[in-house]
Amino acid sequence: MASSMISSLLVAVFSVLVLAGAAHGHPWGGGGFPLIPQFYDHSCPHAKDIVRSIVATAVAREARMAASLLRLHFHDCFVQGCDGSLLLDNSTSILSEKGSNPNNNSIRGLELIDEIKVALEHACPGTVSCADILALAARDSVTLVGGPYWDVPLGRRDSLTANLQASNNDIPAPNNTLPTIIAKFRNQGLGLVDVVALSGAHTIGLSRCTSFRQRLYNQSGNAAPDFTLDAAYAGYLRHDCPRSGGDNNLFPLDLATPTKFDNLYFKNILVGKGLLNSDQVLLTQSGETAALVKAYAADVDLFFKHFAESMVKMGNIKPLTGGQGEVRNNCRRINNHY
Ligand code: HEM
Ligand SMILES: *[C@@H]1O[C@H](CO)[C@@H](O)[C@H](O)[C@H]1NC(C)=O
Ligand SMILES: *[C@@H]1O[C@H](CO)[C@@H](O)[C@H](O)[C@H]1NC(C)=O
Ligand SMILES: *[C@@H]1O[C@H](CO)[C@@H](O)[C@H](O)[C@H]1NC(C)=O
Ligand SMILES: *[C@@H]1O[C@H](CO)[C@@H](O)[C@H](O)[C@H]1NC(C)=O
Repeated sequence: MASSMISSLLVAVFSVLVLAGAAHGHPWGGGGFPLIPQFYDHSCPHAKDIVRSIVATAVAREARMAASLLRLHFHDCFVQGCDGSLLLDNSTSILSEKGSNPNNNSIRGLELIDEIKVALEHACPGTVSCADILALAARDSVTLVGGPYWDVPLGRRDSLTANLQASNNDIPAPNNTLPTIIAKFRNQGLGLVDVVALSGAHTIGLSRCTSFRQRLYNQSGNAAPDFTLDAAYAGYLRHDCPRSGGDNNLFPLDLATPTKFDNLYFKNILVGKGLLNSDQVLLTQSGETAALVKAYAADVDLFFKHFAESMVKMGNIKPLTGGQGEVRNNCRRINNHY
């Protein structure tokens, strides 16, 4: 009697949690299961070690790989959720997201994801999803180059589809206005703190000239270059980012410590040395985001705490769980490809 009352109560509480989770898009997956850090503890006990060791070797070889892997998780999660859709190549049924404006000639690290997948298929065939590999590799990358550690909720499944149009439209562009960037985060269930904290990912990695050239030169209809950019820094950037040509020349997103995950990205912004327009506008276009930029510049621990929390939130965007999707054998194609 008492026990049946208790179980009814538990069912009621559980239903409320599931409904609340569904309403907010997280932390419950679309299949009704929450992501949990222990997901592979029995089915593939060494999964996390395998990912970490391959990422560690790659980052030791080339520090930028940490940045490239972190960005892959972001570009995956913002397009129909964290479902590995980014990794699918063109095929008869797939129009690859790899050709989108944010991704083409820009995303890196895809071969390393393949390498991790091969190692995991060897250890535990058909078990660890490509979407979870991206989430783990992003966390390991951040930790390896000096950033915070967080437990990665797991149990994502891989999509059977990709969405090139969403990749073009839903991933923010470097010349988007701040309201547009905020709206694109809100579409994913992410707020202002997430916008500023996650932009702090630009404490590592490189950008092509083409992603910020607009800021360096006046153009027809636009009287002057971007005066929120420090003049001396702009002059330095113009050397290798000419008006035309040099599109793929590379520049650190954090000129102070390009391979270290720290809060100097925010200090740069305070002195007009954010590289992308989308970086600098966090200070110049809103008091609320400016306050966060200042807080993170002043307190690296606060930045690390918020960054880790926001990464978990981002990783919870519309995951496929339970019986949804599949665990791909090869991250580049769905299992029944033809
Ligand atoms: C807030 C909106 C954002 C915009 C407009 C933006 C835009 C960009 C652009 C234009 C680049 C340079 C790409 C190139 O020229 O090849 C870049 C690089 C990068 N982005 Fe973002 N990004 C944003 C948010 C994020 C977030 C949320 C993350 C991760 C949590 C992230 C991680 C990175 C990393 C690590 C790089 C360097 C990649 C490398 O060196 O391979 N970005 N981003
Ligand atoms: C995929 O195929 C489309 C259509 O043929 C093509 O336009 C696009 O460039 C291809 N994408 C990639 C990443 O190869
Ligand atoms: C990607 O960039 C390459 C090289 O610049 C270009 O040839 C190709 O058309 C681009 N692909 C798409 C889908 O835009
Ligand atoms: C942003 O950059 C893209 C690509 O270079 C360009 O086509 C677009 O016109 C730019 N938008 C604004 C508002 O400057
Ligand atoms: C654009 O910059 C060039 C070179 O600095 C300068 O000569 C020209 O007057 C500028 N045009 C406008 C409209 O500001």
